[in-house]
Amino acid sequence: MDLGVFIPIGSNGWLISKTSPRYKPSFELNRDVTQKAEKYGFDFALSMIKLRGFGGESEFWDHALESFTLMSALAAVTSKIQLFASTAVLTLPPAIVARMVSTIDSVAPGRIGVNIVSGWQEAEYSQMGLWPGKEHYAKRYQYCSEYMQVMKDLWETGHSNLQGEYFKMTDCVLSPRPEKKVPIVAAGQSDAGVAFAAKYADYNFCLGTGVNTPTAFAPSISRLVEAAKKEGRDVGSYVLFMVIADETDEAAQAKWELYKEGKDMDALSWLGVQAGNDDKADLNSTAKTMLNPVSMVNMNMGTLVGSYASVARMMDEMEGIPGLKGVMLCFDDFIKGMDDFGTKIQPLMKSRAHVMASA
Ligand SMILES: Cc1cc2nc3c(=O)[nH]c(=O)nc-3n(C[C@H](O)[C@H](O)[C@H](O)COP(=O)(O)O)c2cc1C
Repeated sequence: MDLGVFIPIGSNGWLISKTSPRYKPSFELNRDVTQKAEKYGFDFALSMIKLRGFGGESEFWDHALESFTLMSALAAVTSKIQLFASTAVLTLPPAIVARMVSTIDSVAPGRIGVNIVSGWQEAEYSQMGLWPGKEHYAKRYQYCSEYMQVMKDLWETGHSNLQGEYFKMTDCVLSPRPEKKVPIVAAGQSDAGVAFAAKYADYNFCLGTGVNTPTAFAPSISRLVEAAKKEGRDVGSYVLFMVIADETDEAAQAKWELYKEGKDMDALSWLGVQAGNDDKADLNSTAKTMLNPVSMVNMNMGTLVGSYASVARMMDEMEGIPGLKGVMLCFDDFIKGMDDFGTKIQPLMKSRAHVMASA
């Protein structure tokens, strides 16, 4: 099972709260988190692209760096960890992204992959005049498919002549090309999103489910397994969890309660409006999941709250879930969280014994 970290490229990580650790993103913070991940034997680090925050007193995600330029800098200060940069497909042409990947590949050979972001928050794009209108919701994975085809053509052959509905290439060229296949991740949960991942991605993310129910998400990945089988491809599932850990279960639980009590209602109502914009979203879509009132404070991602031993036990429970290829973690406090994970949680995990042995 691979282990990754969702690095804090946006302010306040993934807690929409006035009482959780508050910080602005910087190169230093993300470098420290990524270097710690490398030191503790994590397999990958991924940064999202977020172009508009949610506001409110917490200024949630109002401060965010750009993903490719950050990963390029991180490529230069790491040596073995796999890096994923995110492209919001409405903002960057695929031939440019293909070339940015070639560039980062020359900094860190074989270590750069791409997260394809179809776009769900209209305000990120309308502020730049790049929102195609509501019809984008229905067509976004068609758009992503052509986007992927252009990049694949360029990486594999150095040329693209795709004459698609959205992209028209005329002997478009790329050199140098990455030496190895560029890994692709996606994160759609709608039926169209899963179908796209099955066809083009190597891994598809889902959100973990519930608090301290580490295997509850398992049924949701069977859709990806089935869809990939139909395509004759091997596509792994990655799952996202937030870890809130402390010396005792009680101490960790107290932090979680504090964060929930401080939820930033103004920022959450912005999320509500943006995630509710797609009135045709299917029930599996991430927009619907995020709006569940149960745990909006962290967008209803799966959450592991407990002592270091409890979190280690829950992480171990995930190993062996059919189709699951990895877990990506985020933390309430990233610097302390990474160190606690590396020195207090991971040494207790049976599923990471091989990493501890090789360290
Ligand atoms: C691990 C993970 C990473 C994501 N990264 C981004 C991102 O960088 N930018 C963004 O706008 N959305 C991001 N998303 C949202 C997805 O890309 C996708 O738009 C969302 O899941 C809605 O798709 P769906 O309607 O098919 O479920 C991410 C989601 C997950 C679970």
